[in-house]
Amino acid sequence: MSTFKYLEKEINDIVNKKGYETDITLSLSNRPDLGQFQVNDAMKLAKMYHKNPVEIANDIKSELDNNDNFVNVNIAGAGFINISLSDKALINFINNIKDDINNNVDKVESKTILLDYGGANVAKALHVGHLRSANIGEALNRLAKVLGVKTISDVHLGDFGLQAGLVVLQMSIMYPDLPCFKEGYNGEDFELPITEEDLKVIYPTASSRSKEDEDFLNEARQITYQIQNNHIGYSTLWNKVSELSKKDIKKTYDRLNAKFDLWEGESDSFQYIPEVLKILGDKGLTYISEGATVMDVKEDSDDKEMPPILLQKSDGAYLYATTDLATIYGRLKRFNLDEIWYTTDIRQELHFTQVFRAAYKSGIVNDNIKLGFYGFGTMNGTDGKPFKTRTGGVMPLDELIDLIKVECRKRLNENIVEEEKREETSETIALAALKYADLLPFRATDYIFDPAKFSDLDGKTGPYLLYSTIRIRSLLKKAKQEGIDYNNFNIINNNSDKDVILTLLQLPNVLNRSYEAKSLNEVAEYIYKLTSTYNKFYSENKILTCENKDLKESWLVLSNIVYNTNMMLLDIMGINVPEKM
Ligand code: ARG
Repeated sequence: MSTFKYLEKEINDIVNKKGYETDITLSLSNRPDLGQFQVNDAMKLAKMYHKNPVEIANDIKSELDNNDNFVNVNIAGAGFINISLSDKALINFINNIKDDINNNVDKVESKTILLDYGGANVAKALHVGHLRSANIGEALNRLAKVLGVKTISDVHLGDFGLQAGLVVLQMSIMYPDLPCFKEGYNGEDFELPITEEDLKVIYPTASSRSKEDEDFLNEARQITYQIQNNHIGYSTLWNKVSELSKKDIKKTYDRLNAKFDLWEGESDSFQYIPEVLKILGDKGLTYISEGATVMDVKEDSDDKEMPPILLQKSDGAYLYATTDLATIYGRLKRFNLDEIWYTTDIRQELHFTQVFRAAYKSGIVNDNIKLGFYGFGTMNGTDGKPFKTRTGGVMPLDELIDLIKVECRKRLNENIVEEEKREETSETIALAALKYADLLPFRATDYIFDPAKFSDLDGKTGPYLLYSTIRIRSLLKKAKQEGIDYNNFNIINNNSDKDVILTLLQLPNVLNRSYEAKSLNEVAEYIYKLTSTYNKFYSENKILTCENKDLKESWLVLSNIVYNTNMMLLDIMGINVPEKM
C-alpha cells in the first residue's frame, strides 16, 4: 500500500473510531497556506449524523492532533479539515520507496484485459489517424501492467475489407501472368513480384480508379467476397500481400514503441462468423432488410438515432461490424477475459455501441464482462486541420515522424552528441515530442500539434522531460564517480525538497485516476509537475558540493527516486530516453 493510501486509511480509522461510518478522502489542498492536504467530509457526515460540521471536524481534529504523522491540523470555514504531514511521516515515506518505487504504486484489482489498438489497414500506409491509437493504446496497456493488470494486446489489422479486392484486382491487371490468376491454380507457391514500395502505389491507384469506374468497383467487391470465401487464387495472393504489408506496418509500430502480443486481424475472426450468425439467427435477433441481414440494437432510452447493425450485405459480403462481433466471440472463446478495451478515433463510437449491444443482447458476451470503447479526438496541424501531404493526401505516419525529426535534429547539441549517434538521438527525441504531445490532452479532445513548439527543450514538452531526466542521471553518475554513497534519507532541509516529496506522494492517485479515465493526460501533467518541481529544487541547492554529508545523501536519495519515477512514467508513455542529448 502506498504511503498516501496508508495515511488516508489512518485518518479513516480515526473517523470510524469516532463512530462515523464512512469513507473519507484525503485530497491535495487548494489552500496550501492552510495545509498540504484536506479532508472535506465533515459536511457530508453532518448531514448523515444531524450534527454541526465544525463540531465533527473538531472531534476528528482532536484525534489527528495526537498522531505524530500529522501536524498543524486546523479547521476552516464550514468544517474543512486542513492537514499537513510531519517531517517524520515524509521521511518515512521516502525511505519506504527509495529502493523500490513500486511501493509508491497502488495496484488495482487483478484482472485480465485485452486491449485492441493500432488497427492499421493492410496494404494501405499507416496514417496520422493510426498514431493516436498506437500511442494511447500502448500507454494504457503499459499503465495497466504497472497497476498489476494482466493484459493481452492485439493490433487487430484491417485486412478483410474492400482494399483486399482492390489490390488483387489491380495486380491482376499489372501482373496477369501470375500463377494465382491461372485457371486450375491449386495453391502452389510463387514469388510476389512487388515490394513494400510498390504496395504504396498499388492501393491508391486502385482506390482512385474505383471512385470513377463503377465496373472496376463492382469487380473489386466481387473479388473481396471471393477472398472472404476462400477463393484459392485470390486468397493466396492476398495472404502474400498481407505478409509483405505487415512487415512494413511492424516497422512503423516499432518506431512508435507499440508492442503487440497478437498480430491478428479481421480475417482471423472469419472462422467464427457462421457460428455467430447462427447464434443471432437462432435467437430470432436478425432479419432481412433489403436483402441484407441486420439486427436491431435500439434501446428505449436512446435519444440519438440508432440504426440496425449491418451483418451481411445482399451480395453475401461481411462488414466491419460482423468481423468485430466475431472477433469478440473468438477472443472470449480463447481467453479468460474480464474486459476488452478499444482505442480508436471517437468517430467510430456508433459502430462500437452497435457491436457491444449486439454482443450483450445475443449473450455472446456475459454481463460480467466489460466491453469499453475509449475513443480519441483528432490531432491537427497548426492550421487547425488534419496533417496533409504537400499534394493534399492524408499524411503517412512515417512522414509525420520524419518532419518532427528534422525539428529535433536542428536543436540537437552537437557538442554533446557524437556524430554517429545524432540520427538515432534525433529519432528518439522526435518520438518523445510526438508521444508526449499526444498524451497530454484528455484523450477525447482534439488538439493542435505544432512540431516546432513540441520539439522545444523548454516548456511542457517531451524533450524537456528527457533533458531533465538525463541531467538527474548525470548527477547520480557523478556522485558515484566521486565515491559518494547514498542510502538514507533523514533530513528535510527546506521548502524546495519538501515540495518534491509532496509531489511524489501524489503519484499513486494520479496513476489510479488515469487508469479509471483511460486517459494519460494526468500522468503527462504529473511528470511535468514532478520534473519542474525537482528542477527548482536542483537549481536552488548545490547538491554535490553540499558540506553537510547527511543532507547531501538525503538529496541524492531524493534525486534517485525522482529519476526512477520519471523513467517509470516515460516508459508508461512509451517514451525512450537517449543516452545524451
Ligand atoms: N482498421 C480500423 C481503422 O483503420 C481500426 C480497427 C479498430 N479495431 C477494431 N476492433 N475495430 O479504422
